[in-house]
Amino acid sequence: MSDEGPRPVPQLGSIAPYVMGKPPKADEPRGAKLSSNENPFGPSPLGIAAAVAALPGVNRYPDDPGVLRQRIAAHHGVGPESVVTGAGSDEIIHLVCSVYLEPGRRMVVADPPYGIHRIAGQLSGATLVRIPVVDWTHDLASMAAVARPGDVIAVTNPHNPTGTAVRPDELRALLATVPRDCVVLVDEAYHEYMDDDVRATAIGMLDLHPGLIVSRTFSKVYGLAGLRAGYGIGRPETLEPLDRVRAPANVNALALAAASAALDDRAHVERSVALTREGRARLVDACVRLGLEHVPSQANFVLVRDRDGWPEALGRDGIAVRPGANLGVPGWHRVSIGTPAEMDRVIAILELLFG
Ligand SMILES: Cc1ncc(COP(=O)(O)O)c(C=O)c1O
Repeated sequence: MSDEGPRPVPQLGSIAPYVMGKPPKADEPRGAKLSSNENPFGPSPLGIAAAVAALPGVNRYPDDPGVLRQRIAAHHGVGPESVVTGAGSDEIIHLVCSVYLEPGRRMVVADPPYGIHRIAGQLSGATLVRIPVVDWTHDLASMAAVARPGDVIAVTNPHNPTGTAVRPDELRALLATVPRDCVVLVDEAYHEYMDDDVRATAIGMLDLHPGLIVSRTFSKVYGLAGLRAGYGIGRPETLEPLDRVRAPANVNALALAAASAALDDRAHVERSVALTREGRARLVDACVRLGLEHVPSQANFVLVRDRDGWPEALGRDGIAVRPGANLGVPGWHRVSIGTPAEMDRVIAILELLFG
């Protein structure tokens, strides 16, 4: 008998880990975590109240997925069978890849890709087909051109780590072009932060392609990243296999309660979006003024080119940002939009260095 221990699947060897955004040092009194694109304005108050009310009932399994699925369906004007819930939208990505990919199949992603699209695709044994971004934006025409039957095509809109959005007409053209047995996963984790004049969702495009799945999350604008809830929207026959194999009760009872309530918390969403857009505009203005190369963003973060140690200068002041080296963009750092006071500090440090 061999004593070498268990043998992971061969594709595991080639998978670089996902490195999470680091918090500031624990002893840093003015610590600001601008490294994971969270909501700095806190969780939805209605969501917290609902989670607290649900706490005494956690001796029971959750209502799986029960009310949350109904609420999400009503929110988007689709039937409940067009919704699948997950412990964060990352679980939806893993479910899509485990159901629709296997060795010999392919996953088409932007280069740089969102890290979990890369990892989930590789873990399934699929070959990653990386299509470089053009002007930091998905090259949807090239992604459509390379697509073959059975591929999963991942589009992140707005993209992480670049923050750029795709044009709806180009997404429609991709959906019209790619083989009908492909899955097109449109990841809309940052949808709410987009400017009004460009904000478009693929949820209204479900009639264009049978394999379209749109993922959303409660981790960003709803402020529930620590609870883990997300979902996918698609045609019932495309989602049914995901629902069949997901772990029962994958979304825990507190997350279910909080997410259901947060969905209706318009005041929290509107305030979070308005303050985030304001902070984003201020950071972009500062970059323009100070001559710092950056990528115009539709999300709650901005990618900024390294120069003269600005990320380290922020770090010395207790402000943690995300190294682009972890995101496929070495030589850049990604700054999540924080509170107005946090953005004051970021901009003041940049001004000190470059003003
Ligand atoms: C593009 C994208 N999709 C999905 C997620 C994951 O979200 P969740 O917390 O719902 O798993 C993130 C998180 O940063 C993201 O950037």
